[in-house]
Amino acid sequence: MTQPASPDAPPIQAQGLSKTYKVGFWFNRTVRALQGLDLEVGAGQIYGLLGPNGAGKSTTIKILMNLVRPTHGSAHLFGQPVTSAATRRLVGFLPENPSPYEYLTGREFVTLAGHLSGLTRHELDQRVTEVLGAVELGSAEKLQIRRYSKGMVQRVALAQALVGKPKMLILDEPTSGLDPVGRRQMRDLILAERDRGTTVLFCSHIIPDVEALCDRLAVLVGGRRVREGSVQELLSAQVPTMEMVVEGLKVDQVKGLGVALESALALDGRVLVQVADADSQRLLGSVLTAGGRVNRMQPARFSLEQLFMDALKESGRATSVGGEINT
Ligand SMILES: Nc1ncnc2c1ncn2[C@@H]1O[C@H](COP(=O)(O)OP(=O)(O)OP(=O)(O)O)[C@@H](O)[C@H]1O
Ligand SMILES: [Mg+2]
Repeated sequence: MTQPASPDAPPIQAQGLSKTYKVGFWFNRTVRALQGLDLEVGAGQIYGLLGPNGAGKSTTIKILMNLVRPTHGSAHLFGQPVTSAATRRLVGFLPENPSPYEYLTGREFVTLAGHLSGLTRHELDQRVTEVLGAVELGSAEKLQIRRYSKGMVQRVALAQALVGKPKMLILDEPTSGLDPVGRRQMRDLILAERDRGTTVLFCSHIIPDVEALCDRLAVLVGGRRVREGSVQELLSAQVPTMEMVVEGLKVDQVKGLGVALESALALDGRVLVQVADADSQRLLGSVLTAGGRVNRMQPARFSLEQLFMDALKESGRATSVGGEINT
């Protein structure tokens, strides 16, 4: 018998999730998409899964939505196993590459989703109008979905995720296919949902979206979690770096000063240098002694992009894509 969801349990709890897909004509090769992933998302958080193509983001989300069974490990939503249909009703889901019934109009499709999520006839009409308005599809609601553009399909799929007033949203690449205005609207919608208490898990490889939205995030590479924490925690754990603009010396002269540099880039007759904070005064002294000038020196802004690139480099995955393949 299905247990009721517990209101105090974390919206998402997963331990040791692994997934191995069998591939090839004889299913004799395996792809390791996830390798021992732990995940905990607290109530009211916006949690991001950031990772390159093939990192295992969609596999994680599919396990949470009970669309894929993990090879090992367990996953719970609101304290109940992901197999509990009653608990999944609390979740609005936007899949990767949504393919809604294309002979329905946008309004018919979202009405169907609202009906399935348990809205009463009385509530349905008003709620459907509300969410179609929120995703700016009000004027296209009577058009069949097969006539929609890619961005419009993404919007109608988000509307179906929102219509049942879910306690949690699970969104796979929510800004995929959207133009810059659409991306901004999607971000605003996600923030508005968080403000009304909805927990949000989303995955992306678009770093600015993750930086703008997330309270916490996990970086996945090759099916493993290689970083986890709040955006602030993760950025402040980066080694402090200074950025300097050097004039009067060529890039090779700056590189030859005997100070270890993180990077040195020629730019309009100047050299833009990144150096560890601990070495910055020594570099300054050496530049002056060599007859150069430093016309700007400031702490480099730590970016999630840098963190992401560092995590990829450490995992040796900077160039390869996808899970580990065994034959
Ligand atoms: N149904 C499947 N059968 C076989 N292999 C699969 C299947 N689904 C995913 N994979 C493999 O598992 C790995 C992880 O895929 P997943 O879709 O979870 O990655 P992702 O992080 O969502 O990537 P993307 O950013 O490209 O969407 C990849 O190597 C992929 O090829
Ligand atoms: Mg994916």
